[in-house]
Amino acid sequence: MFENYLMPESASTIAPRVDALIWVLTGMSAFFFFAVVAALAFLAIKYRKGSDANRDLAHPDNDALEITWTVLPTILAVVMFVVSTAIFLQYRQIPEGASEIYVTGKQWMWKLQHPSGKREINSLHVPVGVPIKLTMTSEDVLHSFFVPAFRVKQDVLPGRYTTLWFEATKPGTYHLFCTEYCGTDHSRMIGSVTVLEQADYQRWLESDDSVMASNLTPGEALYAKHGCVTCHDGGDAARGPMLAGKYGTEETLNSGETIIIDDEYIRESIYNPQAKLVAGYAPLMPVFKNLINEEELFLLIEHIKSMEDTEASN
Ligand code: CUA
Repeated sequence: MFENYLMPESASTIAPRVDALIWVLTGMSAFFFFAVVAALAFLAIKYRKGSDANRDLAHPDNDALEITWTVLPTILAVVMFVVSTAIFLQYRQIPEGASEIYVTGKQWMWKLQHPSGKREINSLHVPVGVPIKLTMTSEDVLHSFFVPAFRVKQDVLPGRYTTLWFEATKPGTYHLFCTEYCGTDHSRMIGSVTVLEQADYQRWLESDDSVMASNLTPGEALYAKHGCVTCHDGGDAARGPMLAGKYGTEETLNSGETIIIDDEYIRESIYNPQAKLVAGYAPLMPVFKNLINEEELFLLIEHIKSMEDTEASN
């Protein structure tokens, strides 16, 4: 359909209403703009100085005409106001019983937490056909949570909560953007919202990792659960250094020093990521000190050791 070229995919209950509003407002504005410009041009040419057009019909006063062009636009403006307000209220009023998800913005990533305690980074899984309420805050500066396919956007502020709700109507994966300029890597503060069928969502929630694979080693499962892959996959958009195949190799730090990547270095980098940054990377990684205990750390280190270069694109 032609609006697919003009509009992002539409995948929430509010999206068709927002689109309809935009089309109607744009259509009305375009209609009056072109009507006025066309009439102006036509009359300017017809009654130009020296033309022999008949000027006898010119009446300085025409009450009927003046009342018409005052009352009609007033009614149109009031209708536009009422319709937009109704849509705005639907957009802002969070339905009773909406499922709640907590969102934390941070330079430069999105951290999301489900009611079950399950956490995600830069990716959000939600069930289709269920109203979802997002309660959002920021750890540092202003960010803004925007999912074009849902037609919802809301600023995320440090020191207070803002909310947003949506109900997805179509399973699929949709873009998530930060739409408030928030520093160097603002353009990379992106992610995805994956809409799952109810049953798939339940299965996803119950799976211990966000990867939905059953034969993971405990270390792999932790690696997936904490979203390490979102920054360390070695891809173009990776915010952190690639880990695959790096164990035991030399790395240059921001300070110019070189170190060998060993257990101690990995431990320090997980518990205190800012201590020894790899050259060329910004201090973005969250501190995992309270999220990963020493036992789990061993499992993670085991997994990082076992990662081979070929896994880089996983
Ligand atoms: Cu966060 Cu832009």
